[in-house]
Amino acid sequence: MSIVILAIESSCDETSASVCRDGKILSNITANQTVHEKYCGVVPELASRAHIQNIVPVVDTALSSANYSLSAVDAIAFTQSPGLIGSLLVGSQFAKSLALALDRPLIAVHHMQAHVLANLIDDPKPDFPFLCLTVSGGHTQIVLCESPTRMKVIGETIDDAAGEAFDKSAKLLGLPYPGGPLIDKYAKQGNQNRFHFPEPQIPELNFSFSGLKTSILYFLQNAGRSHVYKPENIAIEVEQKKFIEENLLDLCASIQQRIVSILLNKLKKAAVQTGVKNICIAGGVSANSGLRTAFQQMGQQYHWNTFIPAFQYCTDNAAMIAITAYYKFIEKDFADLSVTANARASW
Ligand code: KG4
Ligand code: ZN
Repeated sequence: MSIVILAIESSCDETSASVCRDGKILSNITANQTVHEKYCGVVPELASRAHIQNIVPVVDTALSSANYSLSAVDAIAFTQSPGLIGSLLVGSQFAKSLALALDRPLIAVHHMQAHVLANLIDDPKPDFPFLCLTVSGGHTQIVLCESPTRMKVIGETIDDAAGEAFDKSAKLLGLPYPGGPLIDKYAKQGNQNRFHFPEPQIPELNFSFSGLKTSILYFLQNAGRSHVYKPENIAIEVEQKKFIEENLLDLCASIQQRIVSILLNKLKKAAVQTGVKNICIAGGVSANSGLRTAFQQMGQQYHWNTFIPAFQYCTDNAAMIAITAYYKFIEKDFADLSVTANARASW
């Protein structure tokens, strides 16, 4: 007998729905919210309202593209945590209402676990155990994954996430939100060895990006003369702007190179410590072309089996919620209707 799951993702600013049958994704429909661009970041209240507008058409389209009707669905899955509480509430209330009306089991999914399991959507899939570097707008983690339902965070950021490092650097360069994809685009035409930003020395398998952000801020304020704050070094605004304009491509390439090297040096350390050779990346920042290329080169050098989800499964999407729910369904790990959305649930 087939298992058909309808999954809903609404943790931040993407409203997404997916239908999966026996672990195979049949549809994955996402409505992006453009309303936040002019605010240089996601405005939670606007995100919730946009989810309310988008959720019915997105779910309808996901069902029709998969050629399924609601009555043929065996379970309803949703992102329970972490995320913006107002956004999570729209998806969770919608999923709970459907489960109640259709009398189907409900499956609550952790968004970060789903990013990891995006690596199980397409072939070839990693064998267990595998390591996953999960890099998104809110999280940066190294996860040891022993089975689809058993995973452990073995390293994480102590301050900003990698996505924030990209977005905040982009903001300092005067680029619009979200700046990560733009830094990626400009970095392709720049010289990554032109400017040198410091690599933080953080113990164990943890990360830090706040020092890098500060060093970029001072470097731009000083119009490239130094990374250190000294009132007498600060250039006048016109000079700062001119420096950025004339060096934008090299600045993007050098910043990207440093973020990627911080991430991959820790991933290399994790691979040595655990002895695991199946290594994945996941999350919005895994869409970054510099990270993808450097990760694959590192994999060849150290004889890892490397895996990266298809582009559409890197940034937030419901297909990753559906695949995670499929494994939870097999283990009969269902939630009851009293389950609530949680902005900050641990694993
Ligand atoms: O996983 P995700 O879609 O949402 C969260 O769960 O946070 O990740 C969003 C983050 C943003 O910070 C965005 O700038 C970053 O992923 N991002 C990128 C690229 N595409 C998305 N960062 C660098 N290069 C990219 N190509
Ligand atoms: Zn995410």
